[in-house]
Amino acid sequence: MDKNFCKKRIAVYPGTFDPLTNGHVSLIRRGLEVFDQIIVAVAWDTPKTPLFSLEERLEMIDEVFAPEPRVIGEGFQGLLVDYVRERGGSVILRGLRATSDFEYEFQMALMNRRLNRGLQTMFLMTDYKWLYISSTIIKEAAKLHGDVQGLVPEPVLRRLHQKYGTSKD
Ligand code: COA
Repeated sequence: MDKNFCKKRIAVYPGTFDPLTNGHVSLIRRGLEVFDQIIVAVAWDTPKTPLFSLEERLEMIDEVFAPEPRVIGEGFQGLLVDYVRERGGSVILRGLRATSDFEYEFQMALMNRRLNRGLQTMFLMTDYKWLYISSTIIKEAAKLHGDVQGLVPEPVLRRLHQKYGTSKD
């Protein structure tokens, strides 16, 4: 085998991303230290009732990562493991914030492993600054006109203002 042959390391980072927060951005940036390409896979079917449409969630990801060609946003439907395989990935990337995330993540990782033994789930920690944030808590604060500047990227902040009628322009 040619020792110089190196397969591109592709990770899929799945989630609802309703919306993308600085915690997600921090995790993706850390992932770029390890992987050649990260596909931010936005769930189409979700038991959550998203505030933003799939198109809006993808637009925000595209705007935030426009300068980084190694990050691409895509919607997905159906089983995550099938989608990861279709896209040529071998790793599912997930973030851990606090121990409370562990049980759910552990369950999901084991189920995905049962569904496809060829895939690995890899966990990275977000920066400590974002340990307490989630998309839900940000939406709740923004809806009640709380200041969420600095917790989400600018394109997300703008859209939150538009959704909740707090836009300054
Ligand atoms: N920083 C900030 N917030 C973070 C975070 C981080 N680093 N990591 C996670 N979160 C938050 C998210 O904002 C989200 O908050 P919310 O609940 O307020 O929306 C929450 O933690 C976790 O949600 P998310 O990462 O979006 O995952 P999810 O649980 O909504 O998504 C899927 C789960 C889509 C990945 C999963 O349901 C799936 O794979 N579905 C496809 C079908 C399938 O294959 N099912 C079998 C899987 S075992």
